[in-house]
Amino acid sequence: MNNRTLAIIKPDGVRKNLVGQIIRMITDSGFKIKAVKMTRLTKDSASGFYEIHKERNFFNDLIQYMTSGPVVPIALEKENAVEDFRKLIGATDPAKAAEGTIRKLFAKDITENVIHGSDSDANAAIEISHFFSRKELLENYPE
Ligand code: RTP
Ligand code: MG
Repeated sequence: MNNRTLAIIKPDGVRKNLVGQIIRMITDSGFKIKAVKMTRLTKDSASGFYEIHKERNFFNDLIQYMTSGPVVPIALEKENAVEDFRKLIGATDPAKAAEGTIRKLFAKDITENVIHGSDSDANAAIEISHFFSRKELLENYPE
């Protein structure tokens, strides 16, 4: 499955009231919304989601940040979704992100960087299933 990715508008994006503006940028870039919700991560669910980073020195700050308020996960579809979405959001550190990217426009720093994007097709599938059930993804429904 190389046509899906998971976006998360992170707590700072929600706090700054950027949900509408960011979703507009995403859909204007050709992504189709497959599923969307607003929810809040617990420490356990955030630690599970970012399991790969648990040995990193920024892990505790990351969990603190990701649990600091509601988030908006969005399952997205587009050809070449993972790579194209990471181009749209820009580098992890907004100071290094390209002009016009979501992080360049809205992120404060390397931790509070407004938005998440999956980094591989395999992780996209795992991450989408972290937030959305098959029913929420409207799978196995008649057209
Ligand atoms: P994401 O997974 O959220 O899309 O971000 P990413 O791939 O661009 O960056 P990644 O290396 O996966 O890091 C995950 C998130 O951890 C926070 N971070 N803080 N203080 C730091 O040095 C640092 N490095 C990373 C950011 O919120 C980053 O997006
Ligand atoms: Mg990452």
